[in-house]
Amino acid sequence: MNTNPIALVTGANRGLGLEVCRQLAMHGYTVILSGRDFEKVTQAAQELSSATQTVHPLALETGSHDSVMEAAETIARKFGRLDVLVNNAGGNFDTDSLTTTVAMDYVRETLEMNLIGAWRVIQAMLPLLRKSSHARIVNVSSGAGAFESEIGFGLTKMGGAAPAYSISKTALTALTVKLASELKDSGILINAVCPGWTATYPGGEAQGARPVAEGAASIVWAAMLPGDGPSGGFFRDGEKLSW
Ligand SMILES: NC(=O)c1ccc[n+]([C@@H]2O[C@H](COP(=O)([O-])OP(=O)(O)OC[C@H]3O[C@@H](n4cnc5c(N)ncnc54)[C@H](OP(=O)(O)O)[C@@H]3O)[C@@H](O)[C@H]2O)c1
Repeated sequence: MNTNPIALVTGANRGLGLEVCRQLAMHGYTVILSGRDFEKVTQAAQELSSATQTVHPLALETGSHDSVMEAAETIARKFGRLDVLVNNAGGNFDTDSLTTTVAMDYVRETLEMNLIGAWRVIQAMLPLLRKSSHARIVNVSSGAGAFESEIGFGLTKMGGAAPAYSISKTALTALTVKLASELKDSGILINAVCPGWTATYPGGEAQGARPVAEGAASIVWAAMLPGDGPSGGFFRDGEKLSW
């Protein structure tokens, strides 16, 4: 029986997800590092594993019902429960698109990637999370989906740009509120987090984006909330954001 808390992170072969895995492992969590390319997650997990801590790779494509169900079965078989789920997989920050002209196929793909994928993973992992006495779900959302955002990326700040991404993240934060409301007596705390504008791409820091470790710490805060912590909120760096 594994006595360490067990955490699953999606989209963790690179960027924020990878760093969240590293930080959770340093905090003593048993980390399941998942992604859609098994070779990449295996390599990333090997790099994060240390003499004292094994990081476990897992194939998980959030867009595939079969892949998600298979991942849940694997976790049930190997670990028996889940204490933390970080829905990090996402993307399609479509700054070159406009609301009036963006292709509907692209909108659909982005909603699948940023909203429905996370929703699917939550439904599949819920039986395992219910077996934990202190489960936490973190949905990695974005200030781009907020009506008010102090850093210029909010719904009212970018004109029509990034329509698919922004609206998918608004919906992900809304999903967080609905789930927290439904699960309020379950002991499971579920929150949305904006990591802030984070340098997960080459040259990001030179443009003013924050270091990856800082953005990831914002997510890890919500994964490690105490039992009397908030649920159904939207946070950055532990501070509640209006949205
Ligand atoms: N960076 C920022 O400034 C920022 C700000 C606010 C919010 N966020 C959010 O933070 C999260 C991580 O961002 P990031 O900057 O680290 O992005 P990133 O470097 O582009 O990494 C995205 C990760 O998501 C994975 N992914 C995408 N679709 C997937 C799917 N269907 N199934 C499984 N994995 C999938 C990617 O896998 P592959 O490698 O296989 O493509 C990759 O591992 C995203 O949700 C993003 O929207 C980022």
